[in-house]
Amino acid sequence: MADQAFVTLATNDNYAKGAMVLGQSLRNHKTSKQLVVMIGPYVSDPSRAVLRQIYDEVRLVDVLDSGDRAHLAMMKRPDLGVTFTKLHCWALTHYSKCVFMDADTLVVSNVDELFDREELSAAPDPGWPDCFNSGVFVFRPSKETYDKLLQFCTEHGSFDGGDQGVLNAFFSDWATTDINKHLPFIYNLSSVAIYTYAPAFKQFGSNAKVVHFLGNTKPWSYTFDPKARSVRGDVQEASSNPSFLLEWWTVYASSVVPMMNREYGDQPFHSGCEEEETPVPPQPSLSSLERKQRWEQGQADYMGMDSFENIQKKLDAFLK
Ligand code: UDP
Ligand code: GLC
Ligand code: MN
Repeated sequence: MADQAFVTLATNDNYAKGAMVLGQSLRNHKTSKQLVVMIGPYVSDPSRAVLRQIYDEVRLVDVLDSGDRAHLAMMKRPDLGVTFTKLHCWALTHYSKCVFMDADTLVVSNVDELFDREELSAAPDPGWPDCFNSGVFVFRPSKETYDKLLQFCTEHGSFDGGDQGVLNAFFSDWATTDINKHLPFIYNLSSVAIYTYAPAFKQFGSNAKVVHFLGNTKPWSYTFDPKARSVRGDVQEASSNPSFLLEWWTVYASSVVPMMNREYGDQPFHSGCEEEETPVPPQPSLSSLERKQRWEQGQADYMGMDSFENIQKKLDAFLK
């Protein structure tokens, strides 16, 4: 349908990789909707060219930043002030209904049925389930709502420094008013929840329709060996979570990298697909408490301190 669209956002080339994979995954699962990506001015020309091949509309927007360092520091995500830019999606008034999806989400099954839902439908946030996670939500573009949202930001700011805090305060009756606005968790399955409630993942995980790589470490933070078809540095290889990571890399390596190589021409393009062993750059040191917290949030530093090799060394030392 021409007046319904999936919408995402990328303010830089890394998130643009995510947007390319997301768009391609929507195409692979035969969506009948329009695809829109909002980009910031720092997205490079080759990335824009590839996005134009995948998306129906590539729309340049101003980057909005909450500048709220205190709240962002509490989330340990100083980079997320720019997620205020997401709010521009309400200005896409040439569509009557849209589904916003973070650039770090991946569609593993057709999800066009989301358009049967109303604004504002979203899945619970795994960290605080009375809030919705703003990585996937159904909305209706409207100049009136857009103006009200920007006004709301100016007057109240955001309790988490990002868009999710504003949107939850603005659509504050989400938790209690209409159960139809609660999307099933399989439309926004986050890796964090897989780690915290493994039996539920074992029971329901195979029904996943959208996977959300929420948190500091994104799929593009890893490297991939296309010959061995393996994501490098991942000690959880045997569990079901790495299979989603592998799916992301498979779409990226098979569809996105060839398009990027064409656009880059003679210039070097670092795809992250490498067959040779690459040296691991030195990591900033963390306190053992911070390290423990990251583990518990499913953000182990698989490439560095928490690499399989280091864990093995520790175990060997312990057994001796
Ligand atoms: N985003 C972006 N540039 C940034 C940070 C975020 O374009 O520097 C966009 C992107 O669409 C991303 C979304 O904002 O998916 C939310 O950020 P992120 O997914 O990193 O947050 P998380 O889901 O990990 O909390
Ligand atoms: C969340 C959401 C993300 C949002 C961020 C900042 O964790 O997953 O979409 O941008 O918080 O509010
Ligand atoms: Mn996200």
